[in-house]
Amino acid sequence: MRVSGVSRRTIALSLDGWSVEVIDQRFLPHRFVLERLESAEQVMRAIAEMHVRGAPLIGVAAAYGMSLAMREDPSDEGLRAACELIGRSRPTAINLRWAIDGMRKLLEPQPPSRRAELAYSRAAELCEADVVACRQIGEHGALLLSRLAAERRGPVRVLTHCNAGWLATVDWGTALAPVYVARERGIDIEVWVEETRPRNQGLLTSFELTHEGVPHRLVADNAGGHLMQRGEVDVCIVGTDRTTSQGDVVNKIGTYLKALAAHDTGVPFWVALPRSSYDAALADAAAVVIEERDESEVLEVSGRSTRGEIETVRLAPDGTRARNPAFDVTPARLITGFITERGLTTPSELEAVYGAGRA
Ligand code: MRU
Repeated sequence: MRVSGVSRRTIALSLDGWSVEVIDQRFLPHRFVLERLESAEQVMRAIAEMHVRGAPLIGVAAAYGMSLAMREDPSDEGLRAACELIGRSRPTAINLRWAIDGMRKLLEPQPPSRRAELAYSRAAELCEADVVACRQIGEHGALLLSRLAAERRGPVRVLTHCNAGWLATVDWGTALAPVYVARERGIDIEVWVEETRPRNQGLLTSFELTHEGVPHRLVADNAGGHLMQRGEVDVCIVGTDRTTSQGDVVNKIGTYLKALAAHDTGVPFWVALPRSSYDAALADAAAVVIEERDESEVLEVSGRSTRGEIETVRLAPDGTRARNPAFDVTPARLITGFITERGLTTPSELEAVYGAGRA
């Protein structure tokens, strides 16, 4: 997608053919900063500290991290250590585990001399596959939006939580891909963008939509239920970090409350789900490790000062303690359906669509 009119992806191999270039999302929306990652250790930190974030992007970044690791040390011990290092960056998104396990299975039977080359080519494949999957999600989701458009006079009003746009993937995004494709088709859309405390990923969504010229308004997380109750939301679309075989959705903290409000007010609640975020091995999401992040993300906030500097200020008095669970679980019963790369489906049909084994 575009930033100031220039087509961008969130991650790519650098021109040197071995290091990896990413957008450092910590500086968005105020500054557009590219970062070059040269080691598996740097990739692990970039994921853990959220220079790159969003489940599909985390998976692709992990695959490139494994490639850098194989360049550094392709021995059996090097492979084991790389899986462990990158695997401990973030616990919740299944994409990370999926990318690492896939790499381990591919590389283990190979002689060390071939591992780096194979890892780079698998990472490039995953990167391209993510773009195709997201575009497909966009196509299927746009059909949903065109149906809603046919039922109304004005624009279709979409509410989204967190950032599940192109910045969370390689390109296009998951929850926002239907919006981008629908706009290409001339469908009138307006997006309610939830701020998504404490990391404020809504600002990333707003950044994307601004650069794509999509009308939208940023709202505080707590406004979502009110807007639904007043009939100002036609559909909710969110992403997912992991969806289980019974259709429970693990996503950014606050998703559950939006799903409850949508259920109560009769607003359809859709989840954009690529195959890479589907956990076929797990039915009940109660077993998923929910990432607990540092208290400082709740106690402090960063933004641009009147002097134009990015500054962090403390919100709470010294000594205040906080708790910072980063994700929650929305049970399948609150979900209208899934927008998958293979079409629209319901929670009960999900297993039939994505199968029982990992891709
Ligand atoms: O903590 P983050 O910013 O990595 O969380 C991102 C989300 O929860 C997204 O909604 C999810 O990864 C789906 S992204 C296509």
